[in-house]
Amino acid sequence: MSHTLRSLRSAVLAPLAEAGAVRKAQGTLALDSALRVDAGASIEAPSGIPGRPLRPELLPHNQLGQRSVATLEGRAALIHSIAHIELNAIDLALDIVWRFPGMPEAFYRDWVSVAKEEARHFTLLREHLVSIGFDYGDFPAHNGLWEMAERTSVDLLARLALVPRTLEARGLDASPLVKKKLVRVGDHKAGAIIDLILREEIGHVAIGNRWYRQVCGERGLDPVAAYAELAERYKAPFLRGPFNLEARRAAGFDEAELAALQRI
Ligand SMILES: [Fe+2]
Ligand SMILES: [Fe+2]
Repeated sequence: MSHTLRSLRSAVLAPLAEAGAVRKAQGTLALDSALRVDAGASIEAPSGIPGRPLRPELLPHNQLGQRSVATLEGRAALIHSIAHIELNAIDLALDIVWRFPGMPEAFYRDWVSVAKEEARHFTLLREHLVSIGFDYGDFPAHNGLWEMAERTSVDLLARLALVPRTLEARGLDASPLVKKKLVRVGDHKAGAIIDLILREEIGHVAIGNRWYRQVCGERGLDPVAAYAELAERYKAPFLRGPFNLEARRAAGFDEAELAALQRI
């Protein structure tokens, strides 16, 4: 193994390129957090990332039908859609580690720990899906999350603004409704998984907020104004309430940011 392969930042490339969903999650959980970071290395963009399984079929967002969770198949489709988000979240967390050099070591270690939590989220949801007779890949899915990763691949500030602080934060808003739907049809196991995911996602958004503010500070930018500008330039998805203000506060959004959100 070459010298560079033994750094944490280059080690993330293996699970990022892994096509098998279960193997991607396992490879992420097996990453050795004790590896040296090598923060200064510029790593060349590898081809074939992210590795993706042949299934699910990826369709445009507007071609994915909504099903009622009252049927077993509809409930499985909902759990599948969250599992798909978690699989993408593994890739998003790994990608930020290799792509952006020159940050403090804690930055890279934070995102590796996020990737490991995403791998656990995917695994819990996928195992639950299997327990009700389905598997990951059984329903079509969309590619919206990775598309945002590509759009923001040249600017760390844009990546932090649009991925953890927008897409993951939107997950905080969606979580109570998703949980309610699943519990209402008696899937308490899924409800408990959603609860655990929400608790840990607050931590991911908090990590995004912390590093976003740090980079804003280094660039002499006002975080609220910079966000509005980046959301416009990179076409952030339209944010619709109800917002989970309690979770957003716990994730470190301040009152000015929450007020700006509600003016959208
Ligand atoms: Fe997650
Ligand atoms: Fe997350």
